Amino acid sequence: MFILGIETSCDETAAAVVKDGTTILSSVVSSQVEVHHRYGGVVPELASRKHMEAIVPVVGEAVENCGMSFNQLDAIAVTRGPGLVGSLLVGFSFAKACAYALDIPWVGVNHLEGHINSVFLEADPPPFPFAALLASGGHTSIYHVTSHTSFEVMGQTRDDAAGEAFDKVAKILDLGYPGGVVIDKLSMDGDSNIIKFPRTYLEKSMFDFSFSGIKTAVNRYVMKHKDNYKNQIADIAAGFQEAVVEVLSYKIIQAACEKNCRHIALVGGVAANSRLREKIREDADSNGLTVHIPSLHLCGDNAAMIAAVGYHYLKAGKTSGLSDDVFSRSR
Ligand code: KG4
Ligand code: ZN
Repeated sequence: MFILGIETSCDETAAAVVKDGTTILSSVVSSQVEVHHRYGGVVPELASRKHMEAIVPVVGEAVENCGMSFNQLDAIAVTRGPGLVGSLLVGFSFAKACAYALDIPWVGVNHLEGHINSVFLEADPPPFPFAALLASGGHTSIYHVTSHTSFEVMGQTRDDAAGEAFDKVAKILDLGYPGGVVIDKLSMDGDSNIIKFPRTYLEKSMFDFSFSGIKTAVNRYVMKHKDNYKNQIADIAAGFQEAVVEVLSYKIIQAACEKNCRHIALVGGVAANSRLREKIREDADSNGLTVHIPSLHLCGDNAAMIAAVGYHYLKAGKTSGLSDDVFSRSR
């Protein structure tokens, strides 16, 4: 089954063609980073406008890149939520119209289910059940995953998402948006042992997170060392990153052990973090667990993961109708 995936939940306009939920034939991601950079975060109104400009060329390029024509597509999968409503509406309405014109089935899917299914686009996917850590700009959650479309939430952030903490700390340090990549790079020149930031475990046996405290701690450190913090910026970045990474790694390993899962998946934009990838691999190894982390291009928002999860709904006969709508928050 050839599925066209469409993703416009935040600031990336993406389209992909995926065969049978596993093989990527083409994947196009058009980022709006340049547009939002100077505002230090995503401006929703600008995001929707940019999606409107990009959606037709991005989808056209995805179909063209795999040497197919629109008539050869079997179905369309599109992100229905969670995300920015104005952004979601662009992709969702486009998918509706496209499916109607081509007279093919279509399905609206949950963006978070897409991230979890991103590991199935790689060569060695995990067997069910497995424990998944989804860490992105909007969400940080741990799931017990029992099928492509069945998940139990074991824990989630009570305040900021991990990616949001990276972005906010980057803003405090005046490093620009999005902050994750910059902090990741900067940390390579820093020593994480020089400035120790707090690790918030909440109840150690539970799987919820809290990242607002560490952001405040970084802010307090910067205020206290106003005159010379710029000389320590790599050590601050490394100290902050290590604190976040330690908590994320600890909790996903505990969650896997609690559910007797031998396999772990690390997904979402923050899964691109080089220290997190390394630390989870080390910790999993010493606990006899196997880790599955997608390639970098599948960690951030993309449409291949949307087509991947859409495949399982479509195969089961689940489709969406013209009266269906987007949703902004996870239910
Ligand atoms: O999954 P994603 O692309 O979008 C959402 O669904 O939110 O995640 C974006 C988040 C941003 O907060 C960004 O700063 C973070 O992922 N991110 C990183 C890295 N690359 C992206 N965080 C830490 N280290 C990275 N290398
Ligand atoms: Zn995402």
